[in-house]
Amino acid sequence: MSRYKNTVALITGAGQGIGRAIAQKLAKDGALVTVLDIDEGNGRKTVEMLKQDGHQSHFVRADITNFSEVEEAFAKTAEKLGPIELLINNAAFSIAGNLENISLDAWHREIDVNLNGTYHCIRAIVPAMTKAGGGVIINISSVNGVRYFGNPSYSAAKAGIINLTQSVASEFGGKGIRCNAVLPGAVRTDAITWKTRIEKDPNIFEKLGRWYPVGRVGEPEDIAKAVSFLGSNEAEFISGVALPVDGGLLAGMNVMIEDFILED
Ligand SMILES: NC(=O)c1ccc[n+]([C@@H]2O[C@H](COP(=O)([O-])OP(=O)(O)OC[C@H]3O[C@@H](n4cnc5c(N)ncnc54)[C@H](O)[C@@H]3O)[C@@H](O)[C@H]2O)c1
Repeated sequence: MSRYKNTVALITGAGQGIGRAIAQKLAKDGALVTVLDIDEGNGRKTVEMLKQDGHQSHFVRADITNFSEVEEAFAKTAEKLGPIELLINNAAFSIAGNLENISLDAWHREIDVNLNGTYHCIRAIVPAMTKAGGGVIINISSVNGVRYFGNPSYSAAKAGIINLTQSVASEFGGKGIRCNAVLPGAVRTDAITWKTRIEKDPNIFEKLGRWYPVGRVGEPEDIAKAVSFLGSNEAEFISGVALPVDGGLLAGMNVMIEDFILED
């Protein structure tokens, strides 16, 4: 509870999945949480859940691809709860695909939501954080940002987010702003890409687990715990990093090595 006592936090895309888990974890750790989402029904549901658990929270609707909407939502939050001290850029969109079949519209949309949307939120918050003497920004990227796991437009955007994280950490570190990226591996959520895959194979997460050295895919709470640490004063000397939270996926080629061993 004491980690974030009354820290004002805003989480984008907190209407479901990882964003909702981050909202619940930060609220449990004492933060005053604003849930931002394009989906008003789901966003309000998260707020309802937080309130039922005894936490103060409020909802703002915005499409992060629209800079004016982001500015307005941030202003509303500051009016209601005070200046935003912790921003979690989590909102994302992807319909998957590959280079051969992706439509031009889908490519643009994925870059727009995932990269430009994240940039809009950073652009909207930096002046206020600078004025306040500092703040913390955490960008949810992905293991797709550093390796090929399919889904090239989403991956390009997630790679861009890692570089953007380094720019923010470098340019604004002197103003008291820390900025880090978190790179989840596969996480069990209702994201549309997972829904589509689950329709084809209900055991997809169990199957994928064998690629993960820890033997399973992630749960939203795994990501929330890492975010809570990175956003806190315990991480006060950590800035500009891209932290995989992936059960060891990026550490090596587990399944390939099992094949070598079988060959011996
Ligand atoms: N689930 C995974 O396996 C996984 C793996 C790696 C990284 N991630 C990343 O973690 C984050 C959360 O993933 P998730 O699986 O919970 O996603 P999700 O699709 O379940 O939730 C995303 C949320 O973002 C909101 N959103 C989408 N477009 C928006 C917009 N334009 N403006 C405002 N809100 C918008 C949606 O309404 C939704 O509530 C994302 O950044 C995602 O890329 C997820």
